[in-house]
Amino acid sequence: MCGIVGYIGANEKAKLMLEMLKELEYRGYDSAGIAILKNDTLSIFRATGKLTNLANTLKDFRSSGFGLAIGHTRWATHGKPTETNAHPHTATFSSVIHNGIIENYQDIKQELEQKGIAFRSQTDTEVIVHLFEEILKTTNDILSAFEQTIARLKGAYAILLITKQSPDRIYYAKQGSPLIIGKGKAGIYFASSDAPLIGLAHHVSYLEDGQSGYINCHNFETLPNICPLHTNKLYAQKDGFRYFMEKEIYEQHKVLLETMMGRIDGDTILFDELKDFVLPQSILLCACGTSYHAALVASYLLERIAKIKCNVAIASEWRYREPIMDTNELFIAISQSGETADTLEALKIAKRHGMRSLAVCNVDNSSIVREATWTILTRAGIEKGVASTKAFATQVMVLWMFALYCAQHQRKLLPQDIRQQCTAMLRSVEATKVAPKMHDKIRRLSKHYLHGHGFFFVGRDIFYPLALEGALKLKEISYLHAEGYPSGDMKHGPIALADDGLFTIALMPQHMLFDKTKSNIEELAARDATICAISPIEVEVADDWIMLGNHASYMEEFFETMVILQLLALEISIRLGNDVDMPRNLAKSVTVE
Ligand code: AGP
Repeated sequence: MCGIVGYIGANEKAKLMLEMLKELEYRGYDSAGIAILKNDTLSIFRATGKLTNLANTLKDFRSSGFGLAIGHTRWATHGKPTETNAHPHTATFSSVIHNGIIENYQDIKQELEQKGIAFRSQTDTEVIVHLFEEILKTTNDILSAFEQTIARLKGAYAILLITKQSPDRIYYAKQGSPLIIGKGKAGIYFASSDAPLIGLAHHVSYLEDGQSGYINCHNFETLPNICPLHTNKLYAQKDGFRYFMEKEIYEQHKVLLETMMGRIDGDTILFDELKDFVLPQSILLCACGTSYHAALVASYLLERIAKIKCNVAIASEWRYREPIMDTNELFIAISQSGETADTLEALKIAKRHGMRSLAVCNVDNSSIVREATWTILTRAGIEKGVASTKAFATQVMVLWMFALYCAQHQRKLLPQDIRQQCTAMLRSVEATKVAPKMHDKIRRLSKHYLHGHGFFFVGRDIFYPLALEGALKLKEISYLHAEGYPSGDMKHGPIALADDGLFTIALMPQHMLFDKTKSNIEELAARDATICAISPIEVEVADDWIMLGNHASYMEEFFETMVILQLLALEISIRLGNDVDMPRNLAKSVTVE
């Protein structure tokens, strides 16, 4: 989830690139860079951290007069966020920037290294520019060399490439990652989203998958689907959604594909990051908040699929309980930010006692990543909404894949079983696509749930941690009281609260203990609790019904239910007039205990 920009024209390019990149910072950054080609000189500037660091390296550089410029903000998926790994990547006379993941980059890299090409970075992107210049040795046709390069790539990408051999044009390719080309008074513009183009371009073309070629100052009109560009920047940053949280709910199905990219190969799960990984005898999962809920889900999956004994702990509790630690136990720290103080300290305690650790994290080079033995990045891209959505979805997906990875290495699952689970994963991703009719139903239904004295979210098995997560989502952004419970636990006390002012959100998948949950719900309905059933099957005692798709597995039902709970919290919060993206009393990353 990186940001890319480009320009062809005579305006000053260094400042322009910085201004355009600034509009993409919400897409994430741990490093940034630009390349400018003018009068046969290719100037490259790169820096880690925030854009101000790149601006400092450019403070004495100006570049007016006709030329080309490309710029990039990086959210690491392969390789640490260092200056060497920052884009643009350069071969001899060409430079490239890329948003996405090249799944087959290692094969290409090996092929090029065998030809004596030296790579400077750990990134997948660098193979593009070396492959391009290698192919260019076999043809004088630069466009053909670029097209042949693109044809070798597998995965998702939005690419901009400039080369001294073509000083008047930028080569582009789009597959899976967004890319827009715009035209304005002062030249031609490129960007990952329309925010950087506002005020510069008056018309744009939103590229489709499979489009590639070059643009110069004379052939913009040959692009398809040219339309006028709107002018509201903040609206653009949210890609037209009302809140970043809403946008992040809607992008889960795209983001989850990036999480899986390069990690599933037919009937095999691959984690490049787990070199020298030792399968543990048992696992302790440790996290806070939403990440703790992902840890709970993972404990069910790891025991069921990989037959590895699991314990789960809330970091702020575990770090003070004088825990018994076993060096044969793997410590898994789950954290979106990688900076949560309690989780970080718990990880340090585990490390001091000789436990090996795995970080499941969304921010490379964060404190937790630097502390852990191994790291698997969730690749959710920057999450602006304080209430976590896509980070949770990608955590669960990574941990599901990890459970399969452990099972396959213990030969507890046959290749056909892995393939079946991979199919379920892809269907689960599809299940996170928000259907407009579903969202509208939830928006209309949300008006029924504004004035009760509280909410129960109930579910069984992995739908119990999902019930906890749904309750947390609602609490965080609506400020209404909500609790998650195992539905089988109602009779052990909580049912005393049941009356018509108690709103119960019942998670009722058909493939996970449906009848058991149904009888628990009937106990609540018998005491006049107001019930909203999330289920593929109509439940006659429910006051409201949100119909789940008729899925083949409980994991697909899990991911669709997750989206419904996120949207329900969003719509109730909007009705109450709250600031969905920045709810009161909360911070995106709790770096203090
Ligand atoms: C989730 O909606 C909350 N923002 C919060 O519970 C969060 O999950 C928790 O603070 C842990 O943060 P982390 O994942 O960055 O470690």
